[in-house]
Amino acid sequence: MKTFKSLMTIVALVMVASILLVACQPAAPAAPAAAEPAAAAKDLVAGVAVYKFDDTFMTAVRNTITAEAEGKIKVEMVDSQNAQATQNDQVDLFVSKGVNALAINPVDRTAASVILDKAKAAGIPIVFFNREPLAEDMAKWDKVYYVGAIAQQSGTMEGQILVDYWKAHPEADLNGDGVMQYVMLKGEPGHQDAEMRTEYSIKAITDAGIKVEKVAEDTGMWDRVKGQEKMAAFLAANEGKIEAVLANNDDMALGAIEALKAAGYFGADKKFMPVVGVDATAPALAALKDGTLLGTVLNDAKNQGKATLMLTYVLAKGETPTKDNTGYEITDGKYVWVDYKMILLDNIADAE
Ligand code: GAL
Ligand code: CA
Repeated sequence: MKTFKSLMTIVALVMVASILLVACQPAAPAAPAAAEPAAAAKDLVAGVAVYKFDDTFMTAVRNTITAEAEGKIKVEMVDSQNAQATQNDQVDLFVSKGVNALAINPVDRTAASVILDKAKAAGIPIVFFNREPLAEDMAKWDKVYYVGAIAQQSGTMEGQILVDYWKAHPEADLNGDGVMQYVMLKGEPGHQDAEMRTEYSIKAITDAGIKVEKVAEDTGMWDRVKGQEKMAAFLAANEGKIEAVLANNDDMALGAIEALKAAGYFGADKKFMPVVGVDATAPALAALKDGTLLGTVLNDAKNQGKATLMLTYVLAKGETPTKDNTGYEITDGKYVWVDYKMILLDNIADAE
């Protein structure tokens, strides 16, 4: 009986041991894979949110981000559909997934602090781009960066294009009063580019000694169709009074050109209106070539997209962005500023 009992104990032990062995087996092959560093690098994930996919300039920026990420980091890109609440939810999701870094183009730049708090609490470094958070928000954490362009610069260049045109074309002063009667198509109110381009374009003109009179101003929200509608309304209310059109971006400038065409401009009788924009998008360059758009300012989507990706990638790896590891000068420890460039027909190649 005793022998039988010990025999049963041995049988039981062998059974337990073999169950344990089987249970352990799947874990065994995992060991060598973990030692491969290349595989680990590819596992890096960046959560990227763009304020609205349906924006011509931002489409160029996000295409560059996607292209530059190739072979470096996996990019999960989402469309915030112009709703801050949607974007906040998207950030929550990125945080819960445990992405390695965030790149955010805020819907409302004053809401950047909410996103920043979420990122900071989770310890996920964050790069804002194109819509600049307030300085006090940028100061909240050392792992927050911004990639953009100096808005004032684009305004000054846009104004300069009109200064040069006005000086070379005395006939542009239609009513001969020595004052430039203009209309302004503004981007989204509160956006640094909309506010600064509106202010600094006019400042460049008055600084050059040219008097101005604002005939009308309204927001076209960066949008081509809205730009066209607003321009049509300006023309209807101020027939013959408008001598120049300033738009905060090319899409609105192109919309204005459509409205002008419908009102008899740019046709066979050569009735002309100087129209200026910002961005140097492909359709704007086409308008520059066909002589409807007077000039634009290159908003360098390629370098803004590349800098955004490089900073995000370096941060995702747990490193601190420097000129050496990103290719871009880091100003004040957290800003990358990409230069604008004035674009006219004679240097159009610089934007192509
Ligand atoms: C500006 C650009 C606009 C629009 C906006 C979106 O820099 O000139 O066309 O894309 O950003 O935030
Ligand atoms: Ca005049």
